[in-house]
Amino acid sequence: MFLSPFLILASLVYTTLAQQSNTNPTVDGNEDDGWQSFPDVVDATGYPRWVVDEDLGAYLPVYQTSGLNTTEVTRAVIVLHGKPRDCWYYFNAMNNALYNATYDDPTIIREHISIMGPCFFDEDDLSAGAAEEGQLLWGRTTWISGHTNVAPDSISDYSSLDVLDSLVAYYMNKTVYPNLEVVVVGGHSAGAQMAQRYAALRISTDDDDRLHFWVANPGSLVWLTSDRPVSVDDCDGVDDYKYGLADNFPAYATANARELGRSGIVERYNGRNMNYAWGLTDYANGDDRCEASAQGKNHIRRGKNFVKMLKAMGGIPNLTTVDWAANIGHSNEGMMTSEGGIDKLFRYVSNSTTS
Ligand SMILES: *[C@@H]1O[C@H](CO)[C@@H](O)[C@H](O)[C@H]1NC(C)=O
Ligand SMILES: *[C@@H]1O[C@H](CO)[C@@H](O)[C@H](O)[C@H]1NC(C)=O
Ligand SMILES: *[C@@H]1O[C@H](CO)[C@@H](O)[C@H](O)[C@H]1NC(C)=O
Ligand SMILES: *[C@@H]1O[C@H](CO)[C@@H](O)[C@H](O)[C@H]1NC(C)=O
Ligand SMILES: *[C@@H]1O[C@H](CO)[C@@H](O)[C@H](O)[C@H]1NC(C)=O
Repeated sequence: MFLSPFLILASLVYTTLAQQSNTNPTVDGNEDDGWQSFPDVVDATGYPRWVVDEDLGAYLPVYQTSGLNTTEVTRAVIVLHGKPRDCWYYFNAMNNALYNATYDDPTIIREHISIMGPCFFDEDDLSAGAAEEGQLLWGRTTWISGHTNVAPDSISDYSSLDVLDSLVAYYMNKTVYPNLEVVVVGGHSAGAQMAQRYAALRISTDDDDRLHFWVANPGSLVWLTSDRPVSVDDCDGVDDYKYGLADNFPAYATANARELGRSGIVERYNGRNMNYAWGLTDYANGDDRCEASAQGKNHIRRGKNFVKMLKAMGGIPNLTTVDWAANIGHSNEGMMTSEGGIDKLFRYVSNSTTS
């Protein structure tokens, strides 16, 4: 009797604080035949024409957290979708992970974090309806490695990494975001592959001390040394980009990569804020090609081999972190809501931002 008002109050508080989780949007079509629409997503503004280059008139669709006061934004998370190009789902998954984060840690403030999810659509998405005539499109998987657009005809040689340069520059602009501390470019699986290749090829700017890369369960990595942990027979070009740094760079970085050479690229790369994450039970193969098999037989083996390589090259670089997520397999939501995922996506600020 005496306790019941307290219990009622406690249950009210509990109800009020129950964490939110928005249902994933559904879209007709599929990754093979093309997606049929660009759906509304809760908490986001969907921009069908986000301009990445005014002079060229280059644009693509993106989702961005709606209703924020840009003066109060301290962090941006640019989330790269997976192989199915389902940017609506990745925005929503990241946004739900942010609900988890703010629920568990009151120092993480929703109103301070802007999530952006760009959509790298292909020509099937154009015929099916999700994409529109005139916007940037890529080949089915060529956006992952930073190759150039396939449409529209009026724009040539626009790399998917040029898009990332533009989105990063948008957030780094102090006139628009005066209090922004960190931009995270991150992804899982194919999105992680893209984030890692971007870290390898991006041409540095003065803003790079505020730029973090979150690389979760990539199917393969651009390897830093020319040797490989697993020997595979008859694998021509095993060390060529996107699997290695010997040759075959995309137009985005050909001149710069040749000028820097392997050692210059590696030095720049290891000086970046690299935040790797692997699910300890990610035994999925992900990529059957011999170039990937030479890195290890599945995601987690490739991850362990990559970290071993970093150690052998002189130690885990000062600005690199590695999170191993226990009991998580090839799961984007699992990685985003893991302890390391929450930390690196929404909380961690590298000491490069203050040094
Ligand atoms: C945005 O936030 C700043 C700093 O808190 C405040 O001064 C400003 O009035 C806010 N702007 C709007 C439109 O609420
Ligand atoms: C920063 O944003 C302002 C306001 O939109 C714009 O005028 C300026 O050109 C931007 N600066 C850069 C370097 O893009
Ligand atoms: C890491 O930082 C320490 C102390 O600042 C420095 O002595 C060391 O050379 C750095 N290591 C690398 C690999 O950059
Ligand atoms: C960053 O902090 C780590 C410890 O967290 C330290 O080992 C490293 O030297 C620092 N690096 C820089 C560039 O300050
Ligand atoms: C994240 O939030 C959802 C919705 O409340 C919950 O089901 C899930 O268990 C949470 N995940 C973690 C890792 O906290």
